[in-house]
Amino acid sequence: MPDLDEPAPALDEPSSARSTAVRTPAPASVHVDLSEVRASREAAAYDEGQVSETCQRWIMRVPHVIGCHNTVLGEQRFQRLLGERASGARAMEVGCGTGVTASKLSSLGASSVYAFDVSHRQIEQARAEFGDLAGVTFAVQDADAPMAGQFDLIVGRSILHHVDFRSILPRLFEENLAPGGRMLFMEPMSHPLTLAFHRFVRGAHTPDEWPITPADVAWLRERFAARVMPINLLSFPAGAFSSFVFSSADNPLTRLADSIDGRLERRRRLMARGRQGIVVVDRPPVRP
Ligand SMILES: C[S@@+](CC[C@H](N)C(=O)[O-])C[C@H]1O[C@@H](n2cnc3c(N)ncnc32)[C@H](O)[C@@H]1O
Repeated sequence: MPDLDEPAPALDEPSSARSTAVRTPAPASVHVDLSEVRASREAAAYDEGQVSETCQRWIMRVPHVIGCHNTVLGEQRFQRLLGERASGARAMEVGCGTGVTASKLSSLGASSVYAFDVSHRQIEQARAEFGDLAGVTFAVQDADAPMAGQFDLIVGRSILHHVDFRSILPRLFEENLAPGGRMLFMEPMSHPLTLAFHRFVRGAHTPDEWPITPADVAWLRERFAARVMPINLLSFPAGAFSSFVFSSADNPLTRLADSIDGRLERRRRLMARGRQGIVVVDRPPVRP
């Protein structure tokens, strides 16, 4: 059942700043680090709550959204962007969850992978499954804490929308991304159906997460000249409908939606309106 207890945030705010400001009032005389409060709420949601499980159950109701051509192509595009830089790279994964992408980085030939998450439970699972991989280190850490070291590739999936990325990304870019390096993310975006899912199914989300907004995309493009590629525009509702009507995710409806999405994806106004979006930030090499 949808959980309607939580107030939904206003739509025109940046996702990264919104909920901490609204939901964590601090008495003027007491210093409270809002990012730490937010990080511990995130950790609690994954350590003690059922956020992942509830979200997964909802996704399983509409399998053609995940299985349709446009989603598969988007995933392939993400893997290609990863593969272009992974071989020999010093890689970092932010908010690694149970370690699937960290293991992928290792199999793509990264020389080292430092993967961290604020949730102890997620890191325990990651270590249990992938802890033996050579060169891969899993750690419990808050993305908001400053980090040491230089990385050629900084990766995250469904993490920016959980954190105050407008303060975190500039620090990672300036202090941790090596010249010529790449930051690569795959994030939920402000598709109308994604917004409805976040607004009405609160149990599948942490109190602070919110999809990347058009204002966030404008900021990413302005601040880092980021490339943003939407996945699932029309193919999101088409895939959802198809799940109840067709037996296979590959059918005339999802193929039609994919061909339309292929034409729409370059429109600037739709960049933040995918179900998901790929964000690429390349740091130029230093010239002699
Ligand atoms: C939607 S899950 C994604 C996990 C993983 N990247 C994946 O694709 O399966 C979001 C993850 O972000 C982590 N997270 C949230 N806030 C964080 C923070 N401040 N620092 C590090 N990790 C954080 C959560 O613990 C959770 O594992």
